[in-house]
Amino acid sequence: MKNNCSKWLYNPLLTFILALFFLPESLQAQEAKRWYDATTVYQIYPLSFKDSDGDGTGDIPGIISKLDYLKTLGIETLWLSPVYSSPWQDHGYDISGYTTIHPRMGNMDDFDRLIQEARKRNMRIVMDLVMNHTSEQHPWFQAAIKDKPGGPFRNMYVWKEGKKRPNNWKSMTSGNGWHYHKEAKAWYWASFLPFQPDLNYHNPAVKDSLFGVMDFWIQRGVSGFRLDIFNCLAEDSLFRNNPPSLRPIPSEGNPDGFFQKVTYTQNTEKTLEIAREFRAHLDSVSQGEAFSVGEVFGSGELLQKYTAQGQGLHSVFFFKTMHAGFKPHKWKKIIRENDLNFPYPQQPTWVLSNHDKKRFISRLKNKESKMRCVVFMQFTLRGIPFIYQGEELGMRQQKLNPKFGQDPIVKKFGVAATRFARISGESLNRDECRTPFSWNSEKNAGFSTSDSPWLSPAKEAGNIHAEKQLNDPNSLFHFYRKLLSMRKSLSELNSGKMDSLRLKNKILSYRRYSDQSSMYCYINFARKSRRIKEKTAEGKVIFGNIETDAKGRNKIPGRSSVILWVRP
Ligand code: NOJ
Repeated sequence: MKNNCSKWLYNPLLTFILALFFLPESLQAQEAKRWYDATTVYQIYPLSFKDSDGDGTGDIPGIISKLDYLKTLGIETLWLSPVYSSPWQDHGYDISGYTTIHPRMGNMDDFDRLIQEARKRNMRIVMDLVMNHTSEQHPWFQAAIKDKPGGPFRNMYVWKEGKKRPNNWKSMTSGNGWHYHKEAKAWYWASFLPFQPDLNYHNPAVKDSLFGVMDFWIQRGVSGFRLDIFNCLAEDSLFRNNPPSLRPIPSEGNPDGFFQKVTYTQNTEKTLEIAREFRAHLDSVSQGEAFSVGEVFGSGELLQKYTAQGQGLHSVFFFKTMHAGFKPHKWKKIIRENDLNFPYPQQPTWVLSNHDKKRFISRLKNKESKMRCVVFMQFTLRGIPFIYQGEELGMRQQKLNPKFGQDPIVKKFGVAATRFARISGESLNRDECRTPFSWNSEKNAGFSTSDSPWLSPAKEAGNIHAEKQLNDPNSLFHFYRKLLSMRKSLSELNSGKMDSLRLKNKILSYRRYSDQSSMYCYINFARKSRRIKEKTAEGKVIFGNIETDAKGRNKIPGRSSVILWVRP
């Protein structure tokens, strides 16, 4: 009897069935390949993408007219920066109507058409959802001002009565984050800029309203959300002072700064709880089909709390990559951190720049050969790659006069501070990475027929543009295209595991593998050819070149990358 029992227990088929039965449902679902595992996300900054009506700003019909370009590149998922109603003080990240479209961007019919046209091309749309704050002009905030303390509208935002500033909390953009409202006779909290009051997530009605917004867009056909400063969602309900810190400036890897820890303003337990509720709600409203990516800042160890082993957000940005430059040891460290904190089958993200950050190629002194190596990693590492519009062409960071800055961050810091920041290699003026997309060599680089586009095209737009690169099989555009198509078709790359991360002789290497085969990826960071010990005869070079010298030694040419494909 005893023997019989153990026989049953060790029967692998039965164990598998039992495991399936007892495994949490979310994990079972994760094991299956999900559409977003194999996807690449392309960020469109609509204001600067394509202007269809000549008013000098990009719009939704403009995006529709360029879907075929994106299809040619191999893109399937588009993340749209905000297109909602907004007074546009922070270019749409100050929403005054969550379920309406800004007239500058088009109208709801245009939006529906975008969804349909995207579907026809097997593409998906991901919206930017700003849950943390609204515009001060949002009807909720306007009603909150007039409401009595503790009233239903007042309670939608974070208020504190009294003459004195409620506590020491600083905003993410530095300085006091509390603002006294004369009419309301109370202080309101703003994590970002004063015209973006924070919603109060200790009030269940706020969460329900925002989940309702999510339902609205899912029902309209969107496939997920990018969640703006999700780290700031819920502050401490006891309004405790943030503890002191020695850090002057926050960084991508550590949000503490301005001489305080963000203990009570960012990454609170309540915010992490909302991440899990958000996931449960999104899964239920989309039948498990929709995807989310959170904008959060910190170490991998902190960020993984947001994804909560598959119970929280689907993924989060990991921004440390933006500062890895072309330093192989930094990349190795970051790759290890990202991989460890988001283990298979969770998905890390790989992001080089966005509408807030310096364009990545310009961090590499505009050296395309270096950019190609980094992009190769972005597409061959385990995780979801994000492309910021124009990155595929090598569009560069511009140097603009801060005096004419339209970005509210430049307006906050002023000309002198913005100029000073540039010395450190960073840019406070976000206009510099938001210049119009360079389509061709015509007027305004083909972006708009207007005589005064909202920003002038990039200085080098006459030379770096889509039309030229589409016609050149050796262009950066076609390099991206090749990587995208490889990643899409090879399961080792889009959903396989990863191991053997090494850095030797300035060659960074790792293995991506499935049950069927292994892909050995090599990146030579050195200027000259470098030897690799592996015997290439056992595999097939499916990307890049391996040179063999007179002595029969294998070498990878300087600043290039290679994939060696090996069957077991
Ligand atoms: C992050 C967005 O990426 C940025 O553009 C915006 O200004 C802030 N969040 C505030 O919403």
